[in-house]
Amino acid sequence: MSQHILTAVAWPYANGPRHIGHVSGFGVPSDVFSRYQRMAGNKVLMVSGTDEHGTPIQVQADKEGVTARELADRYNRVIAEDLTGLGLSYDLFTRTTTKNHYAVTQEIFKGLYANGYIFPKTTMGAISPSTGRTLPDRYIEGTCPICGYDGARGDQCDNCGNQLDPIQLINPKSRINGETPTFVETEHFMLDLPAFAGVLGSYLQSKQGEWRPNVLKFALNLLGDLQPRAISRDLDWGVPIPLDGWRDQPNKRLYVWFDAVIGYLSASVEWARRSGDPDAWRQWWQNPDARGYYFMGKDNIVFHAEIWPAMLLGYSGQGDRGGSAGSLGALQVPSEVVSSEFLTMEGRKFSSSRQVVIYVRDFLARYDADALRYYIAVAGPENQDTDFTWQEFVNRNNGELVAAWGNLVNRSISMAAKNFGAVPEPGDLTDADRALLERSRKAFAPVGEELGRSRFKNAITEAFDVVREANKYLAEQEPWKLKDDPARQKSILHVALQVVDDAKTMLTPFLPSSANKVFAMLGGEGVWTGMPEMREVDEDGGTPYPVITGDYESGAARWEHRPIKPGTPLAPPVPLFKKLDPKVVDDELARLTG
Ligand code: MF3
Ligand code: ZN
Repeated sequence: MSQHILTAVAWPYANGPRHIGHVSGFGVPSDVFSRYQRMAGNKVLMVSGTDEHGTPIQVQADKEGVTARELADRYNRVIAEDLTGLGLSYDLFTRTTTKNHYAVTQEIFKGLYANGYIFPKTTMGAISPSTGRTLPDRYIEGTCPICGYDGARGDQCDNCGNQLDPIQLINPKSRINGETPTFVETEHFMLDLPAFAGVLGSYLQSKQGEWRPNVLKFALNLLGDLQPRAISRDLDWGVPIPLDGWRDQPNKRLYVWFDAVIGYLSASVEWARRSGDPDAWRQWWQNPDARGYYFMGKDNIVFHAEIWPAMLLGYSGQGDRGGSAGSLGALQVPSEVVSSEFLTMEGRKFSSSRQVVIYVRDFLARYDADALRYYIAVAGPENQDTDFTWQEFVNRNNGELVAAWGNLVNRSISMAAKNFGAVPEPGDLTDADRALLERSRKAFAPVGEELGRSRFKNAITEAFDVVREANKYLAEQEPWKLKDDPARQKSILHVALQVVDDAKTMLTPFLPSSANKVFAMLGGEGVWTGMPEMREVDEDGGTPYPVITGDYESGAARWEHRPIKPGTPLAPPVPLFKKLDPKVVDDELARLTG
């Protein structure tokens, strides 16, 4: 039965280009999942965009001497290009600075406020003693009270990832002139998380055995200490607070994480409008049979497993204070928070400033997207922190993609093309022929099962087992020695081509571009699996901006074994993957240490 599946992909900050650590968390896993679900016949809506508000953007803009808006414009485009280059099949990748996003964010705030889940609170805010003016959080630096890191900012500690209030910093200093700020009373809005303790508890408990154990454990732990959480900031860059007396205050904005998570909903609404059916988003948000899967790195778990569900429940009138659903109607909480662990780079934390980094764009300039996608799927941080090394990248590329899969495709198609010019007709099949055909056909179910549960490593390993067995089969059958027995040679090549066809189907979610090539080499016509494209759009004649979208429905790809047709013309194959010179490792390591 066809299901509606929302793939909600974490929104990258538009404060710089993305590196491969970022895309190993949210990017590749969400795309593999979505492509599989579409092939399995489900209706997928995959949305995301750039996260453009708040301190992370403002700090970088200050550094580069541009406005936050200019910075966001620049990196929105860069990031959209990178993600398109990786072949990530977003139905809509947009941004948080659209009018639509502002409107949806303000609607959610108002609904929560009307139901009593948001309340104002007087807190202590920093001012500069020399000017008497508000000192925004980002301009305050000090020692983190939680981990002791001495470059923590007034809004968060980049070392331990905890959210902070400026007043919690030990030894706070203004980054503008080094003076010690004074703290005066300032008003902020708080989300009443304790009012969701009960519903969040039963929600999370019901996910036992379903979510990745690390993720669920982390989320359940958070429940022990639910405190009201500030959802506004002393800042001039962000979504205005939609209440009289607040709307026009230049230095009060909604906290960036409050608006960012709402992006999943606003992007769905924008997608529906662009698709010509403005209510279509409801199928993924209000239909009880729909499922929502959220993909991210582990530093995002708290926002997706706790705060976002609380916001959705509160807007729908389902926390301890009750209430009624706002004008959008009741909204569904995430079915699963699929979080990856962290990727490190040659044993170190990724760091742009220290050049311990490889940006997606540089990667794609030198290597193929499928090579990176393969590495992330087979050796990425799915369940534990994992190290990326160039040596392992080259080994896997050359040993697995080129020597195992590429070679199987290449030699079976070229032999059949050269000898017969078409898919050969099989004769009587031997036990070995039948065993391999059956092995391959039977792999669809377990590989699909693993993919549907986001167990990508298991899935790709199982699919590659089929590839390895096919290579073994060819080595044993030695069709190249059967010039004098064309009937037997035809049978063997028929079997090999059928398994190549099956394997390309099973590898499609991981390796979409090369799957398209294999499809064409086997005589397929039209598109096998759709690839994303960038399109310029605008809102009501505003400044154009790029979105990622695509047609992922009309391609032929389905999650099933399909018999190949004898007589289908074959052309000599083109190489699928580039074999890498081992000296690539030294070149890349030299770049790293700068
Ligand atoms: N921008 C955040 C990060 O890079 C992720 C935001 S996910 C969202 O860590 F859901 F809030 F959008
Ligand atoms: Zn810290």
